[in-house]
Amino acid sequence: MPVIETARALRGTRVVLRPLAPGDLRRLVKWYSDPRVIHFLGRSSAITLAEQERWFRDYERKADDQVFAIEVDGKHVGNLGLHRVDRAHRKADLGIVIGETSFWSRGYGTEAIRLALRYAFDALGLNKVTLDVLEYNVRGIRAYEKCGFVREGVARQDVHKNGRFYDVVRMGVLAAEFRALDGPG
Ligand SMILES: CC(C)(COP(=O)(O)OP(=O)(O)OC[C@H]1O[C@@H](n2cnc3c(N)ncnc32)[C@H](O)[C@@H]1OP(=O)(O)O)[C@@H](O)C(=O)NCCC(=O)NCCS
Repeated sequence: MPVIETARALRGTRVVLRPLAPGDLRRLVKWYSDPRVIHFLGRSSAITLAEQERWFRDYERKADDQVFAIEVDGKHVGNLGLHRVDRAHRKADLGIVIGETSFWSRGYGTEAIRLALRYAFDALGLNKVTLDVLEYNVRGIRAYEKCGFVREGVARQDVHKNGRFYDVVRMGVLAAEFRALDGPG
């Protein structure tokens, strides 16, 4: 896998995406230990700083992952990742977490995803971006739909949380679909 070009900051109207840095990790530990945030993620337990640092070391060695810090007015409020960037099939997976819960449902997630999709389709030349979302994450699904994602399928009872199984919805958006929605660059 060739090294993918690394983005500098991607700037939107209210949101900036900049590369994640080691100094951000303590904030990630706080977010990924918050039950309100964990509720919407595949994992069920809190994360430690040591785990987070190990993850970051592995991440830095990867050529096919790019993780951005989401900033609003200079405040780091969440992360967005393009994972498993696949040059052969020109596709990637997207993951997003706004960890500061007071920033939920204010349009920042939608803007961050749109910025990342522009980068994925225009700068990286990808054709498709996919993601997985828990069936009950209606806010996430709504934000993804606003960015052009459509449901591609359901992985039945794919995640076990709080003593029961949940379906996971697979969603995807194609470059042409996103451009039709987003308008010419
Ligand atoms: C999912 C997430 C990235 C979305 O970002 P956001 O900034 O909160 O979402 P936005 O404000 O851009 O869009 C949310 C949409 O859902 C709608 N919404 C919010 N709560 C809703 C609810 N309970 N039912 C239906 N729609 C809801 C909002 O009204 C908005 O749609 P609208 O613009 O048509 O009104 C963010 O909420 C988050 O990080 N949540 C916690 C972690 C998470 O779920 N990560 C994704 C895992 S797949």
